[in-house]
Amino acid sequence: MQMVEIVHHILEEILKPGDRAVDGTAGNGWDTLKLCQLVGETGRVYGFDVQESAVLKTEERLKAAGCLKQAELFCCSHSEIDTKVHEKIKAFTLNLGYLPGGDKQVVTKKDSTIKALEKLSEMLMPGGVGTILIYYGHEGGIEEKEGVEKFMAALPSDWGQVNRMETVNRKNCPPILYILEKK
Ligand SMILES: C[S@@+](CC[C@H](N)C(=O)[O-])C[C@H]1O[C@@H](n2cnc3c(N)ncnc32)[C@H](O)[C@@H]1O
Repeated sequence: MQMVEIVHHILEEILKPGDRAVDGTAGNGWDTLKLCQLVGETGRVYGFDVQESAVLKTEERLKAAGCLKQAELFCCSHSEIDTKVHEKIKAFTLNLGYLPGGDKQVVTKKDSTIKALEKLSEMLMPGGVGTILIYYGHEGGIEEKEGVEKFMAALPSDWGQVNRMETVNRKNCPPILYILEKK
């Protein structure tokens, strides 16, 4: 099973119609679409990407699937998430790295990723879940991965639990998945 499929299964477990969720890296819109389908028309999904082309692609995908009503998309960094989202969320997902089929020079970066994680972990409601899937084979990827790892390890146990899943029999920086569950 691909890591993205695992992420979608986790989100299916946690999200119900009417819930609020964030996709911090909308990209081609696949994860945003999944969130929108799970929360339904009575829910709300906030999607972020720094690339206008990614936001437009996500918008098109949601429109084609009849899911645009429950979405709010922003062309800005996920580090600014608190200026756009003013309510608690049940789930968030981050898919770190570059956009497959897009501009490989535009990658997520350690500092903005950590800022987003600080804000998202605050925004999660008790019982909420966050998934962070990190691809780190590109330049700066290892630095970002180390920053994420440090952030996760420092989350106090009374905040909740962080689990890590990784492929152990694949070379060349296979993705790592972190699953956060807030108490
Ligand atoms: C691995 S892709 C995401 C794939 C996406 N989840 C999907 O379903 O197609 C990473 C995305 O993060 C975006 N990105 C890079 N830096 C960002 C930032 N600071 N804030 C928000 N998005 C960012 C990139 O433009 C790229 O589209």
